[in-house]
Amino acid sequence: MKAEILKVLEESHDFVSGQQLCEQLKVSRTAVWKVMKRLKEEGYDIESVTNKGYRLVNRPDVITSEAISSRLSTKYMGRNVTYYETIGSTNLTAKELADKGCENGTLVVADSQTNGRGRRGRDWLSPKGNCIYMTEVLRPKIAPANASMVTLVAALAICHGLKELTGLDLKIKWPNDIVASKKKVCGILTEMSAEVDYIYYIVVGIGINVNNTEFSEELKDKATSLYLETGKKQDRAGIIAKVLSYFEQYYDRFLKTCDLSLLKELYVKELINYQQKVIVLSDADSYEGTALGITNQGHLLVEKEDKEVVEVYAGEVSVRGLYSYV
Ligand code: BTN
Repeated sequence: MKAEILKVLEESHDFVSGQQLCEQLKVSRTAVWKVMKRLKEEGYDIESVTNKGYRLVNRPDVITSEAISSRLSTKYMGRNVTYYETIGSTNLTAKELADKGCENGTLVVADSQTNGRGRRGRDWLSPKGNCIYMTEVLRPKIAPANASMVTLVAALAICHGLKELTGLDLKIKWPNDIVASKKKVCGILTEMSAEVDYIYYIVVGIGINVNNTEFSEELKDKATSLYLETGKKQDRAGIIAKVLSYFEQYYDRFLKTCDLSLLKELYVKELINYQQKVIVLSDADSYEGTALGITNQGHLLVEKEDKEVVEVYAGEVSVRGLYSYV
């Protein structure tokens, strides 16, 4: 009931009377009063005025399930949400929930991770209270070979969601890092449980640097946060809701064709590597070229110096600018 009351307050920009809340949610006055008391204890600034009712003046920067649910506008993404103050890794927990049969769109969110995981076995530092660590469970009826495109769909959604909320000039570093001022603000780790021809589930793990004020010596040239870029503290629950709303919209579009044909144009507009010199690094070989865009399968098209155009697959290689991380 806390989430429902919060949602009514979030959606109304004026006072909401106690009577209206009781009638709309079919609860007693005492129950409403108790929820208001609890919300105030949790840091919500709620004004209560006799004969007018309640008004949400300010909210704490929390990402509890109520805080997220009260902001959501999606049909299925995040509708079933589990919040942890501290967890090993949201990807790991999401996989456990998925193995037990949780529904499509289930979201696992944490305020900190003790074993945050990045791509290629790297760690993902996950300090408490100022970032977003979340994992979406999806059960697409697509061939396993098409699953890696979901990561690019997520990157586009995050890029557009964060741009809308912050006004920053964010870009995508192929395949799926979101960058601001050529530094990383968000990474995505997508994992899958499948048979050769059938996907049980995909988990899309998203880490966003939101209100971090500093980074370690090792990371400070490569990573940044939305706060450091805008100079303003950002509201994490609002970001989660906005990102999921774009993600659901773009993912539904992806499912129509099982490729990126309906999203490619939007994606390439955000691609920081577009028409740029890149270096393609793989275990076997490395070469320089110019990035020309992506294919409908999400492969990066690179024109080598001898004009041969090659398709670069995510996972197989790493693509860098010649002189920096992007
Ligand atoms: C990368 O290396 O760029 C991917 C980083 C992904 C980090 C997120 S944080 C939420 C989810 N849980 C994890 O353990 N990892 C992902």
